[in-house]
Amino acid sequence: MIFIEKFRPLASFTAILLTTVLVFAQPRGTQSPVIYLDYASAQPILQAMSEALPTELRGQDANALAILWPQWVTRHDAEIRSRLRQGDEDTIINFLLFGTSFTRAPRATPRQIEQIMSRSNSQTAGGDASTALATILETRINDLLRALSAPGTNDRLLFARQVIVNQRNIDITTEAGRQQARIYLITSLGRVLGEQANYARAIEAARAVNPNEEVVERSRLYRTRGLSSDTSILPNFAVEETLKELQRRGLLTGSVRRVAIVGPGLDFADKQEGFDFYPQQTIQPFAVIDSLLRLRLSVLDDLQVTTFDLSPRVNDHLRQARARAARRQNYTVQLPRDTQGGWKPELARYWQSFGSMIGSPIVPAAVPQGASGLEVRAVAIRPTVVMKVTPVDVNIVLQRQERAPTEQFDLIIGTNIFSYYDTFEQSLAMANVARMLRPGGFLLSNNALLELPVTPMRSAGYSTVVYSDRQNDGDFVFWYRRLPS
Ligand SMILES: C[S@@+](CC[C@H](N)C(=O)[O-])C[C@H]1O[C@@H](n2cnc3c(N)ncnc32)[C@H](O)[C@@H]1O
Repeated sequence: MIFIEKFRPLASFTAILLTTVLVFAQPRGTQSPVIYLDYASAQPILQAMSEALPTELRGQDANALAILWPQWVTRHDAEIRSRLRQGDEDTIINFLLFGTSFTRAPRATPRQIEQIMSRSNSQTAGGDASTALATILETRINDLLRALSAPGTNDRLLFARQVIVNQRNIDITTEAGRQQARIYLITSLGRVLGEQANYARAIEAARAVNPNEEVVERSRLYRTRGLSSDTSILPNFAVEETLKELQRRGLLTGSVRRVAIVGPGLDFADKQEGFDFYPQQTIQPFAVIDSLLRLRLSVLDDLQVTTFDLSPRVNDHLRQARARAARRQNYTVQLPRDTQGGWKPELARYWQSFGSMIGSPIVPAAVPQGASGLEVRAVAIRPTVVMKVTPVDVNIVLQRQERAPTEQFDLIIGTNIFSYYDTFEQSLAMANVARMLRPGGFLLSNNALLELPVTPMRSAGYSTVVYSDRQNDGDFVFWYRRLPS
């Protein structure tokens, strides 16, 4: 589940910060073609959801919709992809709050903020925790601005610099430009924290109605938010636990050959507990292969994993990993574990065994001073495993790969992706997923999706996975099964 509730204390400091601190960034060949969802396939969904259609499509008769559809699809594809830009800006704010590569200031994670607050309150009579926090944030902003001027080979700094310079047209080589960059960072910080507070309020309101409503709200919580690439080990533990459950029930047997991962993600500086002391990495494609082999649901020689993502950064990252694997280079995954995070023993065991089927443990990246309390494992993933992963640029809401029946997927996994879309968009995505799954194949998602009778996907159950002994720290993974043709 989402940890946004824990950001509330931070959100309340937005106003203080704004006032005090303002003063001062396919492989080609035999691949199946990617196509847009055509009108004939979308029509039953448009009809079933006539009340929930976007304004441009609402109230139109079938003839008008048939004419409007192709233009609407291409335009909406561009609109969705434009949300990546906002996601990039959110990522820079996570980097600002949590990064240790450019500053010695304490990290501003929800838990560290709690600690700062209680320390400050106990040291000073009537203590001024807000000043302590504002000072830390101000130091972080100053240090980030300084580091952006000389980013060296730090890929995160280079990315942040590219976003500020190219997307925002700010010349950070001049004093006036640096001041502009400062205002940009502070304003973005205020926006991100304000959004976090709104998400927390929306969850609380839904929880007050009933637990189902909370699940529904969480499942589309980020529908207007920028598209971020955040990822961590946690949802992969939830996926492995779910695969075990499906296996236990005889719903999945040892014949998983074709797997798709929608939105594999890229760990830059995760919105919950992001770290930046190791190179950017993707985890899910390798985690899923590892789990499938461990559970003997797949045989490596017979396995193909396709990733669908609309982010050029994610797709390029995977293409480059493949290119290096073709030169027999391993892919390294770093696995940080917060020793004070209260992880469940099952999660700790998963972390400990991660990669055992696909690589070998190696010496992990050194933990920097500002990120104490961490244990890190690192795994060097074999090139033969990396070559099993094929990245494809797809916007799952509006596109799919056109696959012959013999090439359809046994399993499609989409965690922390559908929550970025509203119910209509999710229903279109479900139609695209259904067209790529073999009859009897599964979609696993930690977002609850609407079951439309017109789409041949049915809920087959769900698993509940708990990550730690912290409140609300877990996931429901929903199982959707493609009906027989
Ligand atoms: C928050 S990350 C989740 C990463 C990973 N699945 C996890 O659970 O840790 C969301 C990912 O979905 C991708 N994404 C978002 N919208 C998408 C869409 N419409 N089609 C394909 N990928 C999408 C993003 O680029 C990103 O890689």
